[in-house]
Amino acid sequence: MGQVQTIAIIGAGIMGRGIAHAAALGGYRTVLEDLLPGTLRKAETEIRANLDKAVERGKVTASDADSAFGRLEYAGSVEEAAREADMVIEAVPEEMESKIEIFTLLDKICRPTTMLASNTSSLSITEIASVTYRAKKCVGMHFFNPVHKMKLLEVVRALETDDDTLAAAVEVGKRMGKEVVVIKESPGFITSRINAMIGNEAFYMLQEGIASAADIDKALKLGLNHPMGPFELVDMVGLDTRLNILEYLHKSLGEKYRPAPLLVQYVKAGRLGRKSRHGVYEYPEVVSK
Ligand SMILES: NC(=O)c1ccc[n+]([C@@H]2O[C@H](COP(=O)([O-])OP(=O)(O)OC[C@H]3O[C@@H](n4cnc5c(N)ncnc54)[C@H](O)[C@@H]3O)[C@@H](O)[C@H]2O)c1
Repeated sequence: MGQVQTIAIIGAGIMGRGIAHAAALGGYRTVLEDLLPGTLRKAETEIRANLDKAVERGKVTASDADSAFGRLEYAGSVEEAAREADMVIEAVPEEMESKIEIFTLLDKICRPTTMLASNTSSLSITEIASVTYRAKKCVGMHFFNPVHKMKLLEVVRALETDDDTLAAAVEVGKRMGKEVVVIKESPGFITSRINAMIGNEAFYMLQEGIASAADIDKALKLGLNHPMGPFELVDMVGLDTRLNILEYLHKSLGEKYRPAPLLVQYVKAGRLGRKSRHGVYEYPEVVSK
């Protein structure tokens, strides 16, 4: 199992619960934590349902699914979750202040050998790591949504990340069943930078009345062979998360990433995507959190 045996995951939202699912299936003792106890209960229910679906589809055996479920634990505080962890993966909202708060706390309470990873989609791991006394042991692990299905993991090497930490993050990713690409830190890494650009352009088109959301989605799916349209995707990702990424790219990489005013307006209206049952499209049936 290598040097990592216990993984703590901080934040049990869309991503945290998926990372927990993949970590438990990868054989790790997995401890999931969230500020909100209700979110943890929903995460547990969703992980069980997703494991059951994987069994139905023949992707996982029933006994592997049960063993994975048995490796999951739920903690009521960051301290309780991270105390015995060899690696902590943070998946709280995409705001630098939240990441810094969590990393400052983790640095105080974790063993000196514990590695700290962030699932940030765009933020600087170097900046997050700078609030700790273990910058060498900090790394980016950018998973994709839905984590239990998506193959890719971007492992991000920050300025100070050492070789052992990088190798451990790659190893953990592989055990979780992911294909791993290692990249040098840069805002938005590979995928978020390109995806934010496409998604933002789609909002500008919608705002300009060039076509309906459904037709823009259709055009990218049927004409460019994208598996999902940009609006279907942003509804799954969360419009607030996308806006946070664009604001960061705009600040760090320049004008071409300025968020489309229509996206900003949707977020202000609380149209956050599937998680709020209304984003670009409406989802009367969906209860995802
Ligand atoms: N949504 C995506 O498609 C996607 C894809 C890749 C990476 N990411 C990144 O993953 C991270 C999490 O995104 P998400 O979509 O899961 O967000 P989310 O809003 O669904 O979940 C965040 C969770 O963190 C919890 N939380 C907030 N502050 C906390 C704290 N101090 N301690 C413990 N829990 C806390 C919240 O209660 C919430 O359940 C972000 O950095 C995001 O950019 C998201």
